[in-house]
Amino acid sequence: MSTTPNPPVSSDQRNATPGLSCKLSANPQDALSSPAGKKPAPPCTLVIFGAGGDLTKRLLMPALYNLAVDGLLDDGMRIIGVNHGERETREWCDDLHTSLQQFAADKASTFHAGKLDDNAWNWVAQRLEYMAGEFESDDTFAKLKQKLDQSTGGNAIFYLAVGARFFKPIADRLGKAGLLKEGDGANGGFRRLVIEKPFGTDLASARDLNAHILSYAQESQVYRIDHFLGKDTVQSILAVRFANAMFEPVWRREYIDCVQITAAETIGVEGRGRFYEQTGAFRDMVPNHLFQLLGIVAMEPPNSFDAEAVRNKKAELFDAIQPLTPDDVVFGQYENGPAGVGYREEPDVAPGSTTETYAAARVFVENWRWAGVPFYLRTGKRLAVRRTEISVQLKPVPFRLFRDTPVNALTPNVLTLRIDPTHGSSFDFNVKAPGPVMRVGAVQSSFNYDDFFAESANVGYETLLYDCMLGDATLFQRADSIETSWRAVDDVLHPGSGGAVAVRGYAAGSDGPAEADALLARDGHVWRPLRQNTPGGKP
Ligand code: BG6
Repeated sequence: MSTTPNPPVSSDQRNATPGLSCKLSANPQDALSSPAGKKPAPPCTLVIFGAGGDLTKRLLMPALYNLAVDGLLDDGMRIIGVNHGERETREWCDDLHTSLQQFAADKASTFHAGKLDDNAWNWVAQRLEYMAGEFESDDTFAKLKQKLDQSTGGNAIFYLAVGARFFKPIADRLGKAGLLKEGDGANGGFRRLVIEKPFGTDLASARDLNAHILSYAQESQVYRIDHFLGKDTVQSILAVRFANAMFEPVWRREYIDCVQITAAETIGVEGRGRFYEQTGAFRDMVPNHLFQLLGIVAMEPPNSFDAEAVRNKKAELFDAIQPLTPDDVVFGQYENGPAGVGYREEPDVAPGSTTETYAAARVFVENWRWAGVPFYLRTGKRLAVRRTEISVQLKPVPFRLFRDTPVNALTPNVLTLRIDPTHGSSFDFNVKAPGPVMRVGAVQSSFNYDDFFAESANVGYETLLYDCMLGDATLFQRADSIETSWRAVDDVLHPGSGGAVAVRGYAAGSDGPAEADALLARDGHVWRPLRQNTPGGKP
């Protein structure tokens, strides 16, 4: 993860074609130019298991294309896509090209790059190779071994862009075929394994998967992805906290009343009914994405920006999370409402399903900095708005200076870090409202990324892929943190005699179940409104 500061851009730069601002060489074989201070990653063969899948099309290829545009890939790079089913490399390439063009043209896509740059695409296309192979057949791995010649110094990254049921069988066969052994190559090549979420479904399964993988590879070879950490706006939280003098002094229990972390979605289960039925909103989002946000917002400052220094601080934080009980969570399921049909009517969902599509949780971090400060987490499908953000709410002022306004009637100071779909932050504070009498009025000051920085068609996987090629694991999950996170929620997933968490109904297109409000009301808190965010003022 680069720490070079970027200068603010001029309006000319802002208006330049997003993502295509760098100079491209005429010959696709030539190295493309890279942003200042960044070097192309070392050569490697990237083996993608799941070459025909959605992740490859929607995220990995756009990210590789963007890295090629920025000249951050080595000329010697190779990309081998493995999937079951015979097909020609040409056909795979054409399919990928068509999807890339569609995403680039789609304004709603994070890869809204406009027109694709032929030069950059050709550069990527020339390095693609399709290999037919069953994920659970030893032949596939023998064939792969032959392909991994010395052309990339023996360096190889195995990316598991496949359903979680294939993680173990693939890792197993890679290990048995000796493909994870480092130092095989002429230059002592590296071997890395990238694994997508979900990493296990509870503490026992995560432990088992870790033990299995670590019987073939060192921890330093394993890159467990949580794509939320690939988002610039999430990485920026570290910059907000540790590159400014004004936040850290108040970033503690003495000043902070509560922290709210929201990942609200308007989409439903999008044809993933079968996966969702077994997973539910809590497993899908809470011990991974939302805990990662919690980790970044609450961890202690590391001594350096070194991967282990950062990951040690995050591990300490996860370790301090007080295990959740069923009493700390509220589950909901969307029913027919203004935004569409209920979850039970979605394809591949049981008519009597009790799977939750909404989860809210109250989390306490038991350490010196955060003891007693509630962190409220919520996530859900088919809610009124799409919004991922973190709001840090400060305590009221200590004394009633303005006679007609008791301190508890003042709008609290809230710093909101906006992650998606808008990118930026806002700060709610109080001023004197204009007029002859002293009246306090709440206002909001806002910052938007695109007012200061060139818009980019970054899909969030660029940094993750580039870092993995560099061997920088800062943004990846370590085995211990994954297990500590699952441990913190294990009593919710496997409730004892107290029984499972009840699932409350909410209308599709609403703010979620009313019971989630009661979770905060117990502590005298309220959720930040989902639909509007301007305190006391104009909506
Ligand atoms: C995925 C979940 O990991 O994250 C999805 O499986 C969810 O259910 C998605 O929709 C949210 O990610 P983002 O980046 O769109 O906020």
